[in-house]
Amino acid sequence: MNPEDLKQKFESAGQGHVFEFFETLTDSGKSDLLGQLEQVDLSELKALNDELVFSGGKRDDIDFSKLTPAPYKPLPADKISDAEWSSAKRAGEEAIKAGRIAAFVVAGGQGTRLGFNAPKGLYKVTPVKHKSLFQVFAEKILSASRKYGVGIPWLIMTSHINDAATRSFFAENGFFGLNPDDVIFFKQGLMPAVDASGKIIMESKSKIAMTPDGHGGCLRAMCRSGAIGELKKRGIDCISYFQVDNPLVNIIDPYFIGFHILGGSEMSSKMIPKAYELEKVGHFCLLDGKTCVVEYSDLPQEYQKMRDENGKLKFVSGSVAIHVLDRDFVERLGGNASGSAKLPFHRADKKIPHIGKNGEKITPDKPNGIKFEMFVFDALPLAKSPVIIEGFRGDEFSPVKNAEGVDSPLTCKNHQKQQAARWLAKVGCATMADSENVPVFDMEISPLFASNEEDFVINWNALPQKPEITDGFYI
Ligand code: UD1
Repeated sequence: MNPEDLKQKFESAGQGHVFEFFETLTDSGKSDLLGQLEQVDLSELKALNDELVFSGGKRDDIDFSKLTPAPYKPLPADKISDAEWSSAKRAGEEAIKAGRIAAFVVAGGQGTRLGFNAPKGLYKVTPVKHKSLFQVFAEKILSASRKYGVGIPWLIMTSHINDAATRSFFAENGFFGLNPDDVIFFKQGLMPAVDASGKIIMESKSKIAMTPDGHGGCLRAMCRSGAIGELKKRGIDCISYFQVDNPLVNIIDPYFIGFHILGGSEMSSKMIPKAYELEKVGHFCLLDGKTCVVEYSDLPQEYQKMRDENGKLKFVSGSVAIHVLDRDFVERLGGNASGSAKLPFHRADKKIPHIGKNGEKITPDKPNGIKFEMFVFDALPLAKSPVIIEGFRGDEFSPVKNAEGVDSPLTCKNHQKQQAARWLAKVGCATMADSENVPVFDMEISPLFASNEEDFVINWNALPQKPEITDGFYI
């Protein structure tokens, strides 16, 4: 678009200040700014300002008294001998073998909260071999691919901050044995950040402040980037979604995929009973008959702690951000089809570096700006027949979020050791543990040996000679 027309457009939208320093810029500065401005959807921004900025904050005030817990399929005592769970497994395995499944990780974030200034997926998490999160996921996908004799494409959503570093890491590590054609990177979208009066914040004279549009941005990024088209070409119709911070995730889980398919669901989720009342997870709920996730930060504490008539937590279902999404559903929500519902945006108040009146750089020490983000779980109320199944925490969820304390590298390492000890106990190998039930030895089971307990038992029993279990045990 010609610069004058663009200027006119921004002025009519009350955003003309973005051109304030335009005439002082070099040619390349001018073209950088114009390129950025062309990407801004001013009508979307106006709607967000009206809804989230001028109204002072919350989009919809939820009537919490109308919330009820969302129903889910509870984990049976033994999945293998349970008729419903084993028929789900059969359906899931059939779909995997037929090449209908892709894995998908949202990995737009950095490891900043861990004091690690790089893409979070590069963070080393395993107890013995110190494998990175990305290596663990790659090996889980490779192991499923070998087991089922089928290529399993892996979509990786990066952000403008970490895309190059993520791609180099995979290239430097030979894609951890995966076929590079099966690893599909794409970048998530960006949204302009605004100040309290809804004006786009200028990061420099030639740059507006743009921030990632949240993990919910993956739906439109998959469509815009062509990733969805690629899946269609490969005959894939189910996408197994997970977060970059959780090395315990069971990425290709035939039970989960089977329940999704048999339930005719467009989006399915795993729940894990909350470990304690105020665990910082989303809560699966029903609101006006629709399944939804209410974040811990939105759900009043009295609801987080509420007990039922049996003294059990009423809102017990924690969302661990593990979903299966239908490809067509992603296309409907993330594509350009008119008339179809889109994910709502949420407001987050952040410290956003900007320029002052004379173009000087300012690094704020308190939140000065508003960023707009989408959350993938907001797709649940829009999905047909959503299914929720229970997962076993010890085999599904131990995120690395904080440098210390809960959800830290140490708790995650301990959970991996406990998982190894549990699987070894199943084959009759006892290991010593401390008073907190953490094995005293460091030990690690490679996903390439087995990435779930059932496979571990089969593969261990097939070993002609069983290895000795000592400190540093690795198989
Ligand atoms: C998230 C969920 C919470 C869930 C918990 C489980 C939200 C708001 N909350 O919390 O319901 O119980 O995980 O661990 O999501 N990401 C991007 N791009 C973005 C933002 C995030 O790719 O713009 C990715 C991150 O890399 C990460 C994931 O999304 O893989 C989660 O993001 P994060 O902000 O860490 O969510 P949590 O607050 O931990």
